[in-house]
Amino acid sequence: MNILAVESSCDETAVSIVRDGREVLTDCIASQVELHRIYGGVVPEIASRKHMESIYALADQALQEAGLTRQEIDAVAVTYAPGLIGAVLVGVNFAKAAALALGKPLIPVHHIRGHIAANYLAYPELKPPFLCLVVSGGHTMIVDVKDYTQMEILGTTLDDAAGECFDKVGRVLGMPYPGGAALDKAAQQGNDKKYDLPRSRPGANPYDMSFSGLKTASLNLIHHAQQVGEELDIPSLCASFTAAVSDTLVPRVEQALIKTGYKKLAVAGGVAANSRIRADMLAAAKCQGAELYLPPLKLCGDNAAMIGAQAYYEFKAGNVADMSLNAYATKSILGEQI
Ligand code: KG4
Ligand code: ZN
Repeated sequence: MNILAVESSCDETAVSIVRDGREVLTDCIASQVELHRIYGGVVPEIASRKHMESIYALADQALQEAGLTRQEIDAVAVTYAPGLIGAVLVGVNFAKAAALALGKPLIPVHHIRGHIAANYLAYPELKPPFLCLVVSGGHTMIVDVKDYTQMEILGTTLDDAAGECFDKVGRVLGMPYPGGAALDKAAQQGNDKKYDLPRSRPGANPYDMSFSGLKTASLNLIHHAQQVGEELDIPSLCASFTAAVSDTLVPRVEQALIKTGYKKLAVAGGVAANSRIRADMLAAAKCQGAELYLPPLKLCGDNAAMIGAQAYYEFKAGNVADMSLNAYATKSILGEQI
């Protein structure tokens, strides 16, 4: 089954064709990152307009690269939530028009379910059930992936997402948007014990976490140094910050592995590209006797291949939409509106 998948929830316009949920025939991305960089973050209106400009040409490019005709597409899939509403709407409307014109099913895919499914592309042998740590720009959660379309959220951030904190700290340090990758690079040269930054303590739910205290403490430290003219050791600050993020994630993931008894741990989302977090998750999985599944770097960030992968399983579960499909800025990974 050849699925044409569309992703436009943030600042990447992406179209991919994926066969049977596992084989990427083509994966086309038009990144807008450079366009938003001068503003220090994504400007929603600019993102929507740019998606509109790129999406048709990108779909044609995808067909051409895959060597398929339009008639050889069996279904059209699209990220319908969550994301910047104007941006998601562009993809949803394009996908509705494509499905209608081709006379093929329309498959709505939750963006975070897509991030999890990136692992199916990287690991053909990976099948649920498994535990997945989702760490993206907008979400941080520990998910019990019971089946391809059946999930339970064991824990989540109570405030900021991990990626949001990376971006905020990176921005205040003068790093280009999005700050996560630059911060990761700087941290590799630093001493992770030089700055004492807080780790969130377990609350009522031992799998929940918080990053706002860490973000505030990091920003205060930077602003204070600027005010008194103290020179900061930037690589060590980046390393200490990343260590605090990782130290918040690791014990909760380990606890969740113990609770579920799973011996398979996957990581998903843009922050899964972080070198320290990848290394610490590997150590944690080893310690718990679990197999670790980490997507390659290009499948960590937003792409349409991951949407095509998840779409195959959504279709098999009967999750198809009609022309009344809408886009949603927020929606739980479980499917209910929030
Ligand atoms: O999953 P994603 O592409 O978008 C959302 O669905 O939100 O994640 C983007 C996030 C950004 O916050 C970005 O700074 C972060 O992933 N990121 C990283 C790294 N590469 C990307 N964070 C830490 N270390 C990295 N190497
Ligand atoms: Zn994403």
